[in-house]
Amino acid sequence: MKNLALVGIQWGDEGKAKIIDHLAETSDVVVRFQGGNNAGHTIVVGNEKTVLHLIPSGVLHKNTINVVGNGVVFDMGVFLHERDSLIAKGVDVGPSRLKVSEICHVILPLHQLLDRARETSKTKIGTTGRGIGPTYSDKAARLGLRIGELAYPEKIRPTLKTWYDEKCVHLKNLGHEEIPSFDDLFNQALAHFKKVEPHLVDTSRFLHDLDRKGKRILFEGAQGTLLDIDYGTYPFVTSSNTSAGFAACGSGLSSSQIGYVLGLTKAYTTRVGSGPFPTECQGADEETGKLIAKKGNEFGSTTGRARRCGWLDLVALKRAVELNGVHGLALSKLDVLSGIKTIKLATHYEIDGKRTQDFPNFWIHEPKAIYEEVEGWPEFPGTQKESDLPSAARQFIQRLEEYTGVKVAMISTGAKRDEMIVRDSKLLHKS
Ligand code: IMO
Ligand code: MG
Repeated sequence: MKNLALVGIQWGDEGKAKIIDHLAETSDVVVRFQGGNNAGHTIVVGNEKTVLHLIPSGVLHKNTINVVGNGVVFDMGVFLHERDSLIAKGVDVGPSRLKVSEICHVILPLHQLLDRARETSKTKIGTTGRGIGPTYSDKAARLGLRIGELAYPEKIRPTLKTWYDEKCVHLKNLGHEEIPSFDDLFNQALAHFKKVEPHLVDTSRFLHDLDRKGKRILFEGAQGTLLDIDYGTYPFVTSSNTSAGFAACGSGLSSSQIGYVLGLTKAYTTRVGSGPFPTECQGADEETGKLIAKKGNEFGSTTGRARRCGWLDLVALKRAVELNGVHGLALSKLDVLSGIKTIKLATHYEIDGKRTQDFPNFWIHEPKAIYEEVEGWPEFPGTQKESDLPSAARQFIQRLEEYTGVKVAMISTGAKRDEMIVRDSKLLHKS
């Protein structure tokens, strides 16, 4: 129970940063282990909002060390910009408390160009355009640049030039003509590297040492299980494994050190970008979808795109609980559903006229969601007390627990830091 992994178990944007920020108070280290600056993690303290894309969400707590693990794809420019914004807010982001793995793969400007150029092809994924897919592709193809290697410019220059020439051909084939010169690209990377270098360490060894000393490590997932490259709604997914199991690979710790897995879901569902979404509010539910979007402020914190909104999908959720080995659920945005008369929960899918509770291959099948309706509830205060929750809201939580077979351990009741019910107080203790 010492260490804990928090993962989103929908299509991202579940409100992970708020939970991390909460748990960081009793943690020593917060680690990002996958994804990159496609993530948009928002923390609200008082009236001040901080949006983080790459730096772990524990950074606002003075006593934490924040680590960007090897599984993350790393945009040096974004990191430096984010670091400077935090410095401007008076946050200490010095190298002693902000560490970056020296073997993170680097996102280069051509990765972003490729990401955007590919989006004009037939299968538009609706990516964030941050170069995530092309960088992970290069990693898997063994063509990538690992950040620590920039300390040896003369050694890497020839291979990087070959890489550059290949990418230029590719980009031109996709109709992209304006490409920065190799020298500009290389010099910019080296200039950025000089500023990032003090933060670099062997994060695996670093984390093992802290773990051995009994420090509490919090793994911060990005995106969500339904965007997982293997088990998400492929090909409308991101390019990393977003599930809790990857917390080990992406940090250099072992799977036995992950500890407790907390799976975070909203009380409804959203997705940004293209792809299947069986419980999307459409037709007669369209207005409710708009209401949820407005009340829940469902606009992307990375790209500003409007998020598609829909009902809670229990079929997908149960699958995600299984894939992650979720020990406890965290529930966010319960307050957003307040005032809706009847709330729907998808309990089955219908495929070719047959009902199922299995999560299908969405590239082949187009399931229709089958719903159960439950009573809505009135507005309630952004509270820390369970007794403030209306009884219908408590019944909704109970139904979620029954269906997934996992208890709800935390309930977020508003955007602010303290608007949170912690049902399982063990979550806030080291053992
Ligand atoms: P957080 O951590 C929501 C989605 C994109 C697109 C797909 C692929 O804030 O929950 P990519 O740029 O990763 O190649 O895009 O994944 N996506 C997210 N959706 N929240 C995120 O992160 C996301 N990161 C990627 O919209 O559909
Ligand atoms: Mg997001």
